[in-house]
Amino acid sequence: MDTQTLKSASSQYLMNTYGERALCLVRGKGSRVWDADGKEYLDFLAGISVNNLGHCHPAIVRAIREQSKVLIHCSNLYMILPQIELAKTLVEHSFAKKCFFANSGTEANEGAIKLARLYSRNKYGEGRYEIVSMNQSFHGRTMGSLSATGQEKVQKGFEPLLEGFRFGEFNDINSVRQLISDKTCAVILEPVQGEGGVIPATKEFLKEIRSLCDEKDLVLILDEIQCGLGRIGTNFAYEYYEILPDVVTLAKALGGGVPIGAILARAPFSDVFSPGKHAHTFGGNPLASAAALAYVTELFDKNIASRAAETGRYLMTQLQDLAARYDFIKEVRGLGLMLALVLNHPAEQLYKRCMSKGLLVNCTCEKIIRLLPPLTITKEDCDEATGILESALSEEKRE
Ligand SMILES: Cc1ncc(COP(=O)(O)O)c(C=O)c1O
Repeated sequence: MDTQTLKSASSQYLMNTYGERALCLVRGKGSRVWDADGKEYLDFLAGISVNNLGHCHPAIVRAIREQSKVLIHCSNLYMILPQIELAKTLVEHSFAKKCFFANSGTEANEGAIKLARLYSRNKYGEGRYEIVSMNQSFHGRTMGSLSATGQEKVQKGFEPLLEGFRFGEFNDINSVRQLISDKTCAVILEPVQGEGGVIPATKEFLKEIRSLCDEKDLVLILDEIQCGLGRIGTNFAYEYYEILPDVVTLAKALGGGVPIGAILARAPFSDVFSPGKHAHTFGGNPLASAAALAYVTELFDKNIASRAAETGRYLMTQLQDLAARYDFIKEVRGLGLMLALVLNHPAEQLYKRCMSKGLLVNCTCEKIIRLLPPLTITKEDCDEATGILESALSEEKRE
């Protein structure tokens, strides 16, 4: 089926939650993908920070193939071998003492919200349930994570939201401090805000947040769903920030493209849940866990994060060169391979032009071009991507 036929079938049979989608991708290899008409693209979005090893990486393909031959699913009523191995690997390479597995980012955050409330309830009793989140944050679309999200545009129409979320200004410790009361039990934030426009926290802010949480016995939840697992140049984002979180949520890249989410926690937060308090049918099932084990093994054993840091520096310099030549680029920002061009006018045309020239990027917050390429891209891929960007930028109408 060609793209036109797929478009009409898509609008006939699928709920319109994603708006008009120009492409149907049918194949991928490394940093390249191909659409239904056979056209090739350089993928600088990686499924929104999911395909961190590129498409169809042999280690992921092998893990899925081998696991699917022996056991795809069995339920968490039984111990799951690759799930235990995955948890062990994550614990041995992180701050965490124990893990819990979900299916997606939003579910990982739902679980973290429950964990924080239960920790507080067990220790302090009723009434200490508020969670401080950040304006411009994004934590997911299910009701708890949606309520924790600091963007009205995604919440509109779904009120009443879950009670007990308050919003501070990102990178402004005083605005957060003001919201803390004897009702507060946790702080949740993304070390680098993704959907909110690729905004890194400052190291100082995260250190102050850590001290505030220590002072008030608040659970510090870092949502590393988009910025974790190598993306910003360290295995975990908290390592870059040189702080120890209490809870970290992961998803996206974790399964190498197979859906899985995770909650990592250090003691005593790792022992808050008791039997019956939280569960999923699919969370960390054999197939997803095997794929995730393959991803984290590559990440930890092959220095993927430091490679991302190095390539990220190279790409950042190239983007800064572009910004120096096009005055409608207001700013280039980000960390590692989580980068953005901030324009002073809507970026939709630029994003579409990049696509038609064979480069996949993303447009967020209307004026921002977000780049989240596979962490395995080469400098030649960066040269090619910036070449396409340059050609698209040169056609951009100046304001
Ligand atoms: C930081 C962050 N948290 C949570 C989510 C939600 O993840 P999912 O779409 O897997 O539910 C996202 C998705 O973009 C995200 O970027």
